[in-house]
Order: sequence, then C-alpha cells, then structure tokens
Amino acid sequence: MNTAIKNTTIQNRSKWERLNSAHTIPTHHVKSVNVVEFLQSLQDFKASKEQILFSIGCFLLKGNKNLAIKRFLGEYNYEIIEIKNIPTREFDLLGSAYQFLNTKMENLEKGLFYTSRNVATDFVSGLDFAAGQVIFDPACGSGAFLFNSKAPAEQIYGVDLDPIAIMIAKFNYFIKFPDAPPPKLYCEDFFNWYSTHSKLTFDYIIGNPPYGANLDLSKVPSEFISSGESFSYFIEFCYRLLKKGGVFRFLLPESVLNVKRHTDIRDFILDHTNLTKIKRFSEKFSGVMSDVYMVELDRDQTKEVLFTDETSTIVPKDIYKVFQNHIFVHLREQDIVILEKVDRLKKHDLSKSVFGLGVVTGDNKTKILKSKVKDSEHIYTGKEVEKYRLLPPKNYLIFDRRNLQQVAPDEIYRAPEKLVYKTINKYLKVAVDATGSLTSNSANIIIPKIPDLDIYTIMALLNSNLYSYLHLKLFGGVNKIAKENLMALPLPGISSIEDKQIRELTEEAIRRNNDAH
Ligand SMILES: C[S@@+](CC[C@H](N)C(=O)[O-])C[C@H]1O[C@@H](n2cnc3c(N)ncnc32)[C@H](O)[C@@H]1O
Repeated sequence: MNTAIKNTTIQNRSKWERLNSAHTIPTHHVKSVNVVEFLQSLQDFKASKEQILFSIGCFLLKGNKNLAIKRFLGEYNYEIIEIKNIPTREFDLLGSAYQFLNTKMENLEKGLFYTSRNVATDFVSGLDFAAGQVIFDPACGSGAFLFNSKAPAEQIYGVDLDPIAIMIAKFNYFIKFPDAPPPKLYCEDFFNWYSTHSKLTFDYIIGNPPYGANLDLSKVPSEFISSGESFSYFIEFCYRLLKKGGVFRFLLPESVLNVKRHTDIRDFILDHTNLTKIKRFSEKFSGVMSDVYMVELDRDQTKEVLFTDETSTIVPKDIYKVFQNHIFVHLREQDIVILEKVDRLKKHDLSKSVFGLGVVTGDNKTKILKSKVKDSEHIYTGKEVEKYRLLPPKNYLIFDRRNLQQVAPDEIYRAPEKLVYKTINKYLKVAVDATGSLTSNSANIIIPKIPDLDIYTIMALLNSNLYSYLHLKLFGGVNKIAKENLMALPLPGISSIEDKQIRELTEEAIRRNNDAH
C-alpha cells in the first residue's frame, strides 16, 4: 500500500527541489544545543541512514547480552560505524536523528512527524497499567506514546509500516527495557495487520496517525467514511479494537473539527463512539500548519464533552448535531446564550440570493496584468477587499471568456450594486461595488435578494463583529468564507425605519473614511 502524502501544495519545481535537499532539525522534538550539533554532524557520514541509526542504536544499548536483543540485532546486516559524542540521555535520539537524516520531502511523504515528549506525556497521563492493561499505537513510529507511558514491556503493542521506524522503536524498547522479552512491535501496514488481528482488544489506543496519506480503499471497507482521509479510517478501525472501560486518544489536525469533508468522521464519532474530550495543543509540528487536537473517546455513554483550548468547558454533545456539517466547536455558556438570542431574532438569510464566483483565469501569471493594456479592464482581487470599501484595483484583465477557465454570467459582474467578499480569510470582509467591475476568485460576489434589507444594511451586518463571531462559532473558524456558510448565516427582521437608518449610517461612515484617505 502506498502511503505517500499527497503533495498538493508543491506547485513549482524550485520548491520541490528545496524540499528534496533540505534537512531540518525537528525542533518540536529536540531542545538542547549539543543534540542539534550532534545531529548536524551526522551529515558528514557517507553511510546510509539505516546504518547510521543502527550504529547509534547499538551504542545506546551498550553491548547488552539479552538474548532477545541479540536476536533483534541479528535481523540486520549493517556494519557498525564509529560515531562520536552520542548524547546518551536524550529523549528519542534515534527518532530525531531519523527525522533529520530524511529530507524535508521524505518526511512529508512518509508523514514522519514524531510527537514531542511533552505532548506524548500528556497523552499517556493517567493511564493505569497495574492490572495488566495493554497499550496499542497503530502507527507507532519511534514509539513516543508507547515508551512515555508507564506500561511494562509485556503490555506494549505497536504497528508501523516503515521498517526504519520499527527498527528505531525496537531500539527504544530495549533502551527502556534492557532485560525484556522480544517486543510486540510489527512492521506492517495497519490495515493489513488489522485483517489478521481484528479479534484483539486493547485498553489504551493512543496514536498520531498519518494525515492525508493515500490508502488503498479496497482494503479498508467502511460504511461510514467516504472522504478517503487516512486519519478517519484509522479512527474507525482502531475504535473497533478498544476494550470496554478503555481509553482512545488520537492527535489530529484541526480540520477534523470543522472541515466539511470530515463530516463523515464527526458523524461516526457522534453516532458510534463516546466522545469525552477535545483538547488543543498549540505546539507546531513541521508539516502541519494549524493547531493539533487530542480527540479522546471511550465506550461509555456520557452526554457531555470536555473542550479545552484557552479555557475548558463542558459542552453538551447533542448541540453538535444541530450545527451545519456537525462541526465540533468550543461553545462556552455565554456562546450558547448569544446563539439562542440570534436564533430568536432570525427572519432572513442569504439562501435565495445570487452568488457568483470571481473570474478563475486558469493562469494568473500570464492573464492577470499589472498595467492596463489595450482591451483590458481593472479587476478586484481579495487583496483589495476591506470592510466597507474596495481599495483601488491594482490588476487588469482582458475579459475574453474563451481564454478564461471559469467565468460567472455577465449580469453578476455588471450588476448595478453587488457585495464583494474576501474569500480566503477567517473573518468576514465585505464591500459594495457599484461600478460593475470584475472580481477574481479571491473576491466572490453576492447579489442579495432580501426585499426588507438594503444591500448596505447587509454589508454592515456582515462586517460587524457579531457576524465574524457567528461565522467562527457556527462554522468553526475555517480560513475560508464559503458560499454555503454565508447562506446559512441568520439575518434579523428589522423595521424599514431601522433599515434606512443603518443604510444612512453606513454611507456616512464610508464617506468619512474616504475623506480621511
Ligand atoms: C505522524 S507519525 C506518528 C508516529 C508516532 N505515533 C508518534 O506520534 O511519534 C505517523 C506514522 O504513521 C506511519 N504510517 C503511515 N501509514 C501507515 C499505515 N498504513 N500503517 C501503519 N503505519 C503507518 C508512518 O510510518 C509514521 O511513522
């Protein structure tokens, strides 16, 4: 099975080459200067990374005579090379060295971002092993969770499809348990392993599964997941292995909470598991841009989830089914009061309004022009969209439909008045355009069709702090303003006098703002 990460973000060759040659210190993993220097010194060795890692591992095992270790080392044919100044007390030195010896591209492709000690320790805190409880990590890498837990050697299970990761995990196992029997650490694709081990159950399933990896979906039949997202299949399949009374904790990207595509796994979690905790970790992992979260499940039937970011709140789970796409948001008591009030005042929405995409050129580099040429006209992009106003346009386009990839009907761009909103942003930024100008797809269009509300009133509402707050709470703070979310925003019923007053105030504010510029 191919688990290469889909590198949709690598658009050009120079970036590709950079990623292919850069080696970076996994700073979330390594804290001390001498370890950084040690890792850098490894670049001088001509040997393969397997041989370097094997040699460091053997040094750290210090010639231990345990037969199980002998057997483990006997599985490999690497000649040991002499490496000086090996730090002996560093947490997961081999894991850090492996991440460093790979190029950035290799780490991206293998999803090779090992969890730091702090986060791993938090994940295994409170787990009791006194009665023989067993811990399992289905994509264990170097074993950050397994070996930070208090589990004795015999109560540890791990799987990873990367042979080097499993070699490192076995070294880490014997470094922690020098006299232990052979480890139950298996080099296999988790889903293959599952097909022959689905009768096993575990007390603790703790992991940081690959995100965005390609899976052979014929091997992972699921009634619940259709997105193709690897972490979702890992959640579904691993949850089946959780014992009653057990605890399941996965480290997942923020997208699991609020991205529409992941509604399938949120529904699975809400309908078929017992969600107990969502906790944010602000630590940045190379390769993951947003925050990451612990999602904790068990097999009980509690009705509430503990949500922790800057603060902690106990949130009733039923509320998530009410939200569009069943997003998991942190609602404090005060949020619930505000949302209920907004709901009471709701009379309109934008669902019957006309939405239009800004022009998709298919090749901005050649088609979006920096200066005016014959037959071109100005075009607004998202960069010019501010609250209440459009900055002077900086770009031009020859508006020839035959040469453009996607273009809305003329009457949308040329409407006497239209709302233009910035598409990629966390908060709403909306302006009225009354010049019939073109916009690009970073600045999309709404032509409101709400007879009781003036276009300026709608602009004022959408630009208010309340609507950015509603957008954040109702749709989970995604960095994109989606048409379907705008359509679902509740708009109030107001009198025609109030409507007129808001229009006048808005126009006045815009006039003053223009004068000031
Ligand atoms: C983000 S790393 C996490 C490793 C470790 N659990 C930790 O937290 O440090 C993801 C791991 O998943 C492994 N992996 C990717 N696809 C897999 C699969 N289909 N089966 C098992 N392991 C897989 C990768 O080799 C990598 O070690």
